[in-house]
Amino acid sequence: MGRTAGSDVEALFATASAARAHAYAPYSGFRVGAAVMSASGRLFAGANVENASYPAGLCAEAVAIGAMVAAGDTRITAVAVVGEGAALTMPCGVCRQRLSEFAGPDTSVHVGDRGGVRQSFRFGDLLPFAFGPSNLAR
Ligand code: THU
Repeated sequence: MGRTAGSDVEALFATASAARAHAYAPYSGFRVGAAVMSASGRLFAGANVENASYPAGLCAEAVAIGAMVAAGDTRITAVAVVGEGAALTMPCGVCRQRLSEFAGPDTSVHVGDRGGVRQSFRFGDLLPFAFGPSNLAR
């Protein structure tokens, strides 16, 4: 499990939950909010943004990462994803790869629903043996 200070987990969850309320998910009806905390301690929010051309839709994590990069940060220390339903709303495979660019194996990933964080993970356990920038450093 990744480790994040309790107050940081609360702030991440609150930020992701607030973004989830703005999710644009008219096609799936599945609303997701995400938040990333950068190394500077700032929080960036994202929500899923679907599209009538279904594959053009964006996951909440992708939107949060974009907000962080646009603000000038490139290191993620903790993540929260807030979805719904009995099953945990885990970051999809593509989003694990997206997070991998900016996260490390010890980055915490907190997964929850409207009730709060349900389970926390260590990023390295979610995407071991990742393809990354070092592969391109020839
Ligand atoms: N979705 C996310 O935004 N993040 C996840 O971690 C899982 C899935 C979105 C994509 C799509 O808009 C909806 O959930 C249903 O797949």
